[in-house]
Amino acid sequence: MIRNIQTIIPGIATSDGAGVKLRRSLGGQNQVRLDPFLMLDEFSSNDPNDYVAGFPAHPHRGFETVTYMLEGHMLHEDHLGNQGHLKTGGVQWMTAGRGIIHSEMPQQVSGAMRGFQLWINLPAKEKMKPAGYKDIQVEDIPKITLANGGSVKIIAGAYSHEDNAVQGPIQGITTAPLFLDIQLPPNTEFEQRIPKELNAFVYACEGELELGGPMMPAPKQAAIVLGDGDLLKARAGSVGAQFIVLAALPLHEPIVQYGPFVMNTRAEIEQAIDDYQNNRFVVS
Ligand code: FE2
Repeated sequence: MIRNIQTIIPGIATSDGAGVKLRRSLGGQNQVRLDPFLMLDEFSSNDPNDYVAGFPAHPHRGFETVTYMLEGHMLHEDHLGNQGHLKTGGVQWMTAGRGIIHSEMPQQVSGAMRGFQLWINLPAKEKMKPAGYKDIQVEDIPKITLANGGSVKIIAGAYSHEDNAVQGPIQGITTAPLFLDIQLPPNTEFEQRIPKELNAFVYACEGELELGGPMMPAPKQAAIVLGDGDLLKARAGSVGAQFIVLAALPLHEPIVQYGPFVMNTRAEIEQAIDDYQNNRFVVS
Protein backbone atom coordinates (compact mmCIF):
# COMPACT_ATOMS: atom_id res chain seq x y z
CA MET A 1 0.00 0.00 0.00
CA ILE A 2 1.40 3.36 -1.08
CA ARG A 3 1.71 6.04 1.57
CA ASN A 4 -0.08 9.26 0.62
CA ILE A 5 0.50 12.79 1.87
CA GLN A 6 -1.45 13.16 5.11
CA THR A 7 -0.42 16.53 6.57
CA ILE A 8 1.84 19.35 5.45
CA ILE A 9 3.64 21.20 8.25
CA PRO A 10 5.27 24.31 6.76
CA GLY A 11 8.69 25.40 7.98
CA ILE A 12 8.20 28.71 9.76
CA ALA A 13 11.03 31.26 9.85
CA THR A 14 12.46 31.64 13.34
CA SER A 15 15.82 31.91 15.07
CA ASP A 16 17.58 29.90 17.76
CA GLY A 17 20.95 29.70 19.50
CA ALA A 18 22.59 33.13 19.49
CA GLY A 19 20.45 34.26 16.55
CA VAL A 20 20.79 31.65 13.81
CA LYS A 21 18.03 32.03 11.25
CA LEU A 22 16.23 28.81 10.43
CA ARG A 23 12.93 27.24 9.38
CA ARG A 24 11.18 25.06 11.96
CA SER A 25 8.52 22.63 10.77
CA LEU A 26 8.13 19.84 13.35
CA GLY A 27 8.28 21.27 16.87
CA GLY A 28 7.33 24.75 15.65
CA GLN A 29 3.88 26.26 15.86
CA ASN A 30 1.74 24.57 18.53
CA GLN A 31 4.66 22.18 19.01
CA VAL A 32 3.22 19.85 16.38
CA ARG A 33 5.34 16.69 16.32
CA LEU A 34 5.43 13.28 14.68
CA ASP A 35 6.21 10.66 17.33
CA PRO A 36 9.16 10.04 17.92
CA PHE A 37 10.33 13.11 15.95
CA LEU A 38 10.22 16.18 18.19
CA MET A 39 11.62 18.90 15.97
CA LEU A 40 13.08 19.61 12.55
CA ASP A 41 15.02 22.77 11.75
CA GLU A 42 16.39 23.61 8.32
CA PHE A 43 19.12 26.24 8.09
CA SER A 44 20.00 27.58 4.68
CA SER A 45 21.70 30.88 4.00
CA ASN A 46 24.48 32.49 1.98
CA ASP A 47 24.52 35.46 4.39
CA PRO A 48 26.95 34.97 7.29
CA ASN A 49 24.83 37.32 9.44
CA ASP A 50 22.22 34.55 9.48
CA TYR A 51 24.54 31.96 11.03
CA VAL A 52 27.86 33.26 12.42
CA ALA A 53 26.54 33.64 15.98
CA GLY A 54 26.07 29.86 16.14
CA PHE A 55 24.82 27.88 19.09
CA PRO A 56 26.97 28.65 22.17
CA ALA A 57 27.05 26.21 25.11
CA HIS A 58 23.60 24.85 26.02
CA PRO A 59 22.24 21.66 27.62
CA HIS A 60 20.02 18.81 26.42
CA ARG A 61 18.38 15.89 28.23
CA GLY A 62 16.08 13.06 27.22
CA PHE A 63 16.44 12.71 23.44
CA GLU A 64 18.84 12.60 20.46
CA THR A 65 19.95 15.46 18.23
CA VAL A 66 20.97 14.73 14.65
CA THR A 67 22.72 17.37 12.57
CA TYR A 68 23.13 16.84 8.83
CA MET A 69 25.34 19.35 7.04
CA LEU A 70 24.46 19.77 3.37
CA GLU A 71 27.03 22.53 3.03
CA GLY A 72 29.28 24.33 5.48
CA HIS A 73 31.49 23.71 8.51
CA MET A 74 30.59 23.74 12.19
CA LEU A 75 32.58 22.72 15.26
CA HIS A 76 30.89 20.71 18.01
CA GLU A 77 32.36 20.67 21.51
CA ASP A 78 30.79 19.17 24.62
CA HIS A 79 31.44 18.86 28.35
CA LEU A 80 32.53 15.22 27.94
CA GLY A 81 35.51 16.41 25.92
CA ASN A 82 34.18 15.38 22.52
CA GLN A 83 35.14 17.61 19.65
CA GLY A 84 33.96 17.12 16.10
CA HIS A 85 34.07 18.97 12.83
CA LEU A 86 30.79 18.85 10.97
CA LYS A 87 31.57 19.35 7.32
CA THR A 88 29.69 19.22 4.03
CA GLY A 89 27.84 15.91 3.77
CA GLY A 90 28.65 14.82 7.32
CA VAL A 91 26.33 13.89 10.18
CA GLN A 92 26.55 14.24 13.92
CA TRP A 93 24.39 11.86 15.94
CA MET A 94 24.31 12.93 19.58
CA THR A 95 22.43 11.02 22.26
CA ALA A 96 21.83 13.55 25.02
CA GLY A 97 20.54 10.88 27.42
CA ARG A 98 20.85 12.09 31.01
CA GLY A 99 22.55 15.27 29.97
CA ILE A 100 25.06 16.94 27.72
CA ILE A 101 26.23 20.53 27.44
CA HIS A 102 27.52 21.39 24.01
CA SER A 103 28.17 24.17 21.55
CA GLU A 104 27.86 24.17 17.77
CA MET A 105 29.80 27.06 16.25
CA PRO A 106 30.28 27.92 12.56
CA GLN A 107 33.89 27.68 11.34
CA GLN A 108 33.30 29.99 8.38
CA VAL A 109 32.60 33.69 8.02
CA SER A 110 31.35 33.61 4.45
CA GLY A 111 29.68 31.31 1.96
CA ALA A 112 26.72 29.02 2.26
CA MET A 113 25.65 27.09 5.31
CA ARG A 114 22.87 24.58 4.75
CA GLY A 115 21.60 21.63 6.68
CA PHE A 116 19.18 20.16 9.17
CA GLN A 117 18.89 19.55 12.85
CA LEU A 118 16.47 16.85 13.87
CA TRP A 119 15.43 15.88 17.42
CA ILE A 120 14.39 12.26 17.97
CA ASN A 121 12.82 11.26 21.28
CA LEU A 122 14.22 8.52 23.50
CA PRO A 123 11.98 5.96 25.23
CA ALA A 124 11.37 6.60 28.95
CA LYS A 125 13.72 3.79 29.94
CA GLU A 126 16.60 5.34 27.97
CA LYS A 127 16.17 9.01 28.81
CA MET A 128 18.70 8.85 31.65
CA LYS A 129 21.32 6.72 29.92
CA PRO A 130 24.83 8.16 29.56
CA ALA A 131 25.31 10.72 26.82
CA GLY A 132 26.84 9.51 23.57
CA TYR A 133 28.22 11.14 20.48
CA LYS A 134 29.01 9.96 16.95
CA ASP A 135 30.65 11.95 14.20
CA ILE A 136 30.03 10.49 10.76
CA GLN A 137 32.13 11.89 7.96
CA VAL A 138 30.82 12.09 4.41
CA GLU A 139 32.98 9.15 3.25
CA ASP A 140 31.33 6.87 5.83
CA ILE A 141 27.82 7.48 4.46
CA PRO A 142 26.99 4.93 1.72
CA LYS A 143 25.83 6.47 -1.54
CA ILE A 144 23.94 4.28 -4.00
CA THR A 145 23.53 5.19 -7.64
CA LEU A 146 20.05 4.36 -8.93
CA ALA A 147 19.31 2.86 -12.35
CA ASN A 148 17.60 6.13 -13.33
CA GLY A 149 20.79 8.12 -12.61
CA GLY A 150 19.65 9.36 -9.21
CA SER A 151 21.36 8.69 -5.91
CA VAL A 152 20.52 7.74 -2.33
CA LYS A 153 22.66 8.56 0.69
CA ILE A 154 21.93 6.25 3.60
CA ILE A 155 22.46 7.92 6.97
CA ALA A 156 20.36 5.65 9.19
CA GLY A 157 18.44 2.43 8.62
CA ALA A 158 18.59 0.80 5.20
CA TYR A 159 17.77 1.62 1.61
CA SER A 160 15.79 -1.39 0.47
CA HIS A 161 15.01 -2.19 -3.12
CA GLU A 162 13.89 -5.58 -4.41
CA ASP A 163 16.18 -8.09 -2.63
CA ASN A 164 18.86 -5.56 -1.87
CA ALA A 165 19.33 -3.65 1.36
CA VAL A 166 22.16 -1.22 2.00
CA GLN A 167 22.66 -0.26 5.63
CA GLY A 168 23.66 3.17 6.84
CA PRO A 169 26.21 3.83 9.60
CA ILE A 170 23.59 4.44 12.30
CA GLN A 171 22.09 1.19 13.60
CA GLY A 172 20.82 -0.30 16.84
CA ILE A 173 18.59 2.55 17.98
CA THR A 174 15.32 1.58 19.72
CA THR A 175 13.19 3.80 17.48
CA ALA A 176 14.78 2.19 14.37
CA PRO A 177 15.19 5.46 12.46
CA LEU A 178 15.43 5.59 8.67
CA PHE A 179 17.20 8.68 7.29
CA LEU A 180 17.81 8.94 3.52
CA ASP A 181 18.89 11.83 1.30
CA ILE A 182 17.69 11.29 -2.28
CA GLN A 183 18.54 13.03 -5.52
CA LEU A 184 16.43 12.35 -8.62
CA PRO A 185 17.04 13.47 -12.23
CA PRO A 186 14.16 15.14 -14.09
CA ASN A 187 11.00 13.04 -14.59
CA THR A 188 12.20 9.96 -12.71
CA GLU A 189 10.63 7.89 -9.96
CA PHE A 190 11.76 6.39 -6.66
CA GLU A 191 10.39 3.73 -4.34
CA GLN A 192 11.35 2.80 -0.80
CA ARG A 193 9.73 0.29 1.53
CA ILE A 194 8.82 1.90 4.86
CA PRO A 195 7.26 -0.69 7.21
CA LYS A 196 3.74 0.25 8.27
CA GLU A 197 4.72 0.40 11.97
CA LEU A 198 6.88 3.48 11.33
CA ASN A 199 5.81 7.10 11.28
CA ALA A 200 7.28 8.75 8.20
CA PHE A 201 7.76 12.15 6.63
CA VAL A 202 9.52 13.72 3.67
CA TYR A 203 11.20 17.12 3.40
CA ALA A 204 11.68 18.46 -0.11
CA CYS A 205 14.82 20.58 -0.47
CA GLU A 206 15.26 21.32 -4.17
CA GLY A 207 13.40 20.97 -7.46
CA GLU A 208 9.90 19.59 -7.94
CA LEU A 209 8.57 16.55 -6.12
CA GLU A 210 5.35 14.54 -6.10
CA LEU A 211 4.45 11.78 -3.64
CA GLY A 212 1.88 9.04 -3.23
CA GLY A 213 -0.54 7.08 -5.33
CA PRO A 214 -2.04 9.03 -7.03
CA MET A 215 0.86 11.47 -7.04
CA MET A 216 0.30 14.79 -5.25
CA PRO A 217 2.63 17.83 -5.24
CA ALA A 218 5.00 17.92 -2.26
CA PRO A 219 5.86 21.53 -1.38
CA LYS A 220 9.41 22.49 -0.42
CA GLN A 221 10.47 23.68 3.05
CA ALA A 222 7.78 21.68 4.83
CA ALA A 223 7.56 18.43 6.78
CA ILE A 224 5.26 16.30 4.64
CA VAL A 225 3.77 13.67 6.92
CA LEU A 226 2.88 10.42 5.16
CA GLY A 227 -0.19 8.34 5.96
CA ASP A 228 -0.65 4.60 6.42
CA GLY A 229 1.04 2.16 4.09
CA ASP A 230 4.33 0.38 3.56
CA LEU A 231 5.67 1.97 0.37
CA LEU A 232 6.95 5.44 -0.41
CA LYS A 233 6.54 6.47 -4.05
CA ALA A 234 8.12 9.68 -5.28
CA ARG A 235 8.45 11.36 -8.67
CA ALA A 236 10.69 14.26 -9.67
CA GLY A 237 9.38 17.00 -11.96
CA SER A 238 11.06 18.50 -15.00
CA VAL A 239 13.94 20.01 -12.99
CA GLY A 240 14.65 16.95 -10.83
CA ALA A 241 14.35 16.86 -7.05
CA GLN A 242 16.30 16.49 -3.85
CA PHE A 243 14.54 15.42 -0.65
CA ILE A 244 15.11 13.67 2.64
CA VAL A 245 13.05 10.80 4.00
CA LEU A 246 12.69 10.16 7.72
CA ALA A 247 10.83 7.37 9.47
CA ALA A 248 10.93 5.78 12.93
CA LEU A 249 8.91 3.73 15.39
CA PRO A 250 6.58 5.83 17.56
CA LEU A 251 7.00 5.60 21.34
CA HIS A 252 3.39 6.36 22.44
CA GLU A 253 4.64 7.93 25.67
CA PRO A 254 3.71 11.23 27.31
CA ILE A 255 5.94 14.19 26.42
CA VAL A 256 6.73 17.13 28.68
CA GLN A 257 9.14 19.59 27.07
CA TYR A 258 10.86 22.58 28.55
CA GLY A 259 13.16 24.04 25.88
CA PRO A 260 16.11 21.63 25.48
CA PHE A 261 14.78 19.10 28.03
CA VAL A 262 12.25 16.51 26.86
CA MET A 263 10.97 14.10 29.50
CA ASN A 264 7.78 12.18 30.34
CA THR A 265 6.58 14.08 33.42
CA ARG A 266 6.69 17.57 34.87
CA ALA A 267 8.60 16.26 37.90
CA GLU A 268 11.34 14.95 35.59
CA ILE A 269 11.58 18.37 33.92
CA GLU A 270 11.91 20.06 37.32
CA GLN A 271 14.64 17.55 38.15
CA ALA A 272 16.41 18.32 34.86
CA ILE A 273 16.37 22.08 35.56
CA ASP A 274 17.59 21.50 39.11
CA ASP A 275 20.35 19.15 37.95
CA TYR A 276 21.50 21.62 35.31
CA GLN A 277 21.45 24.62 37.66
CA ASN A 278 23.41 22.68 40.27
CA ASN A 279 26.05 21.44 37.85
CA ARG A 280 24.95 17.81 38.04
CA PHE A 281 25.11 17.47 34.22
CA VAL A 282 28.87 18.02 34.46
CA VAL A 283 30.02 16.17 37.56
CA SER A 284 28.40 12.77 37.12
FE1 FE2 B 1 22.17 21.54 20.84
